[in-house]
Amino acid sequence: MALPANPLPKFDRLPKHVAVIMDGNGRWARKRGLPRIAGHKVGIESVREVIRAARELGIGHLTLYAFSTENWSRPKSEVGFIMRLLTLYLKRERSELHEKGVRVASIGRIEGLPAALFKELKACMEFTAGNRGMVLTLALNYGARQEILDAARRFPRRASGGRARSGATDEDRFSALLGTAGMPDVDFVIRTSGEMRLSNFLLWQVAYAELYFTPTYWPDFRRPQFLEALRDYARRERRFGDIAPRSA
Ligand code: IPE
Ligand code: IPE
Ligand code: MG
Repeated sequence: MALPANPLPKFDRLPKHVAVIMDGNGRWARKRGLPRIAGHKVGIESVREVIRAARELGIGHLTLYAFSTENWSRPKSEVGFIMRLLTLYLKRERSELHEKGVRVASIGRIEGLPAALFKELKACMEFTAGNRGMVLTLALNYGARQEILDAARRFPRRASGGRARSGATDEDRFSALLGTAGMPDVDFVIRTSGEMRLSNFLLWQVAYAELYFTPTYWPDFRRPQFLEALRDYARRERRFGDIAPRSA
């Protein structure tokens, strides 16, 4: 019997929620004497591969940092290119994502995106709304502090201070006001390009996440690199303040 082309390894433990800071597109391009936008373009291939692998492995939630509230400070031409690239990506991938049972979601102020991207994103989210395979959340015009402030504004003034009658803690009720409402906390953060910072990404949700930093630039971060990161995660001992390892 022929083996499948890309057999997937077995993992003892997989994160329920993986969040990725896709960084290093510009440096990838510069290293090759290409314009920064070439890095963004090739980076889309990495997006495809990582989504496919995550889906095949049965990871429940994959959240990708695609554009931060701070990224607007970049040259107008680069911002415009990224926005058009994302619009095109969603248009092209919608049916494959749907066939694979992926539900597309978003976090961030998406109404602040260019109209064409906003429209395509909405269409993609609606089209895939009934899927139960994997939640793919795109962080677009996203900033964690803004998300936390928005939630704080909506949080009831008089918090219960403990467990409400429903059994929900104040932390649970606060989490429910964030863009990631209903999702499990992030178990695993991957950041490419060698930078070791969070750059305003999911600050509340990563409280107990395992962090993984790799020097690989995003356009070179493909299926093998993603699997390697997951192997690293499987070896980690998570304690959550306890003295012995605890399963998440
Ligand atoms: C990540 O790559 C893509 C976005 C932030 C949109 P960068 O464009 O930040 O690449 P570097 O960090 O300049 O190499
Ligand atoms: C973080 O990357 C944002 C995204 C990946 C979308 P940046 O390249 O913007 O982060 P900094 O500026 O180096 O911290
Ligand atoms: Mg960067």
